[in-house]
Order: sequence, then C-alpha cells, then structure tokens
Amino acid sequence: MRTAIVNKASLAYIDSGQGLPLLLVHGFPLDHTMWGGQIEALSRQFRVIAPDLRGFGRSDVTEGKVTMRQMADDLAALLDALQITSRVVLCGLSMGGYIAFEFIRAHAGRLCGLILCDTRASADTPEAAAARLQMADRVLREGPAPLVESMIPRLFSPATVERHPHVVETIRWVIMRNDRRGIAAAARGMAERADSTELLPQINCPTLLVVGQDDALSPPEQMNQMARAIRDSQYVEIPDAGHLAPLERPAEVNAAISHFLQRIVAAGAL
Ligand code: MLT
Repeated sequence: MRTAIVNKASLAYIDSGQGLPLLLVHGFPLDHTMWGGQIEALSRQFRVIAPDLRGFGRSDVTEGKVTMRQMADDLAALLDALQITSRVVLCGLSMGGYIAFEFIRAHAGRLCGLILCDTRASADTPEAAAARLQMADRVLREGPAPLVESMIPRLFSPATVERHPHVVETIRWVIMRNDRRGIAAAARGMAERADSTELLPQINCPTLLVVGQDDALSPPEQMNQMARAIRDSQYVEIPDAGHLAPLERPAEVNAAISHFLQRIVAAGAL
C-alpha cells in the first residue's frame, strides 16, 4: 500500500489501474480489504482507489471523534494528493455511504457518479446514537471484541454463513485488528451524523444503489425508497447477500458496478 499525508494524517491506500477513477470507501469498522473482490477485477477497466479511512487499517488514528465530514474532506485531500483533477465516481458502503453524503455536501463538483451500497440516508435515532456512544466507550475499555460479537451476526446473509464461512472469519479478524481508538472515534462521528433524506433529491449525478436482499441493517425497502428519491438512479438487489454485498457476492456486484461505470464513460461525463 502507498501512503499520503492528508489533513495532517497519513492515509494508506491502494491505487490500481487506469481510466475513470473509482474511489471505494469502506464500511465500519473495516478497512480497504473489504473491497478485495472489487479491486483487482475492476482495476482491469478503471482506476481503483481504495483507502483505509482515518482510524482504520494502516492509516493514522485520530483520538476522540472523527466526523463523517472529516472523512469526506480526507477523501477530497487524497484526490488532491494523487493529482486527480477529473471527476470521479465515489462508491461507499454503509458508513462509506454516510461519508458519501458529506462528500456531496462539500465536494459535489468532484463527482460524475455515485454508488451507494448497503447504506441509509437517515440519521441515528436518539436511542441508536446513545447505544453507539456506549459501545464506543466499551471498545475503548475492552477492545473490539464486544463489537465483533454484536455486529457479526447481523452482517451476513444466511447463504454466506453457510457456504462461505471463511468470509465471516476474515471480517472478524479485520475488525479485531483495528485500533480501538479509531473505532471509537468513528462511532462517535456516526452518532452525530446529519440526516441526509432531504439531500437525496438534490443529488445531480447518476447514482447506482446496490443492496443485499438479506441486508438487515440497511434493508432493501429502505434503499429502494432512497433510489426513488434520487433523480437519475438505478437500483440493484443482490440475492444471497447481506450488509456486505460486495464481499459476499463480488461477481454480481462487480457486474452492476462495471455496467454503471461504462455508462458514465460512454456519456463522456468525466
Ligand atoms: C457499516 O457497515 O459501516 C455500519 O453498519 C454502519 C453503522 O453502524 O451504521
């Protein structure tokens, strides 16, 4: 992995391939490796950039709280560091989607397309935000294990658990090796994120929404409703996938992404 200094933090990232830049933004509390099924396959046609967000993987940790806006600004600064001045497609999963909404608020002009995977536009309810803050404190005291125990059973489709148990084990270890301070800081940032429902009709670039049919955290009905609120949107459900559809069903998700990106290239929207 390479590293770049952005906003006074070192961010680790993969930069592979050529062509339309596709910025892959991972979910919580993971790192760029959740895009393992996309990076090699999609970099045959496109320039794939997959960072570890601030606080995760091999990137620097900032203690306290890291807001979704900070992460969005880090992504814009990473594009600057890579001297990418053309417009890019941002693809965010779950927390990556929350960050995408902040990127639109602050840096919409840098986008020629948006991919929202297994995410939601609504903010946390007060109860959900309080539970997150409690979990952040617990992770700081005990490390990531309690978070693993609460998240793992909700992340995957039953088909993945049965047929691809190694995928579940891999994600368990990705969470366990993350720094407890980075996890807590992002959880606090998510707890105070804005509601983005009103932003959806203002999105003015082509948008692809991808959701696992068995996603329990950002269910298909919710993502379908988001798709209907976005002007130029395309909605794809992936069978036998849960909240981590790109990891659970890479071939199907790659086909949807590749088709969407080819359409953007053909429209000359760069
Ligand atoms: C994620 O996958 O990024 C998380 O489910 C986001 C969240 O906890 O809201």
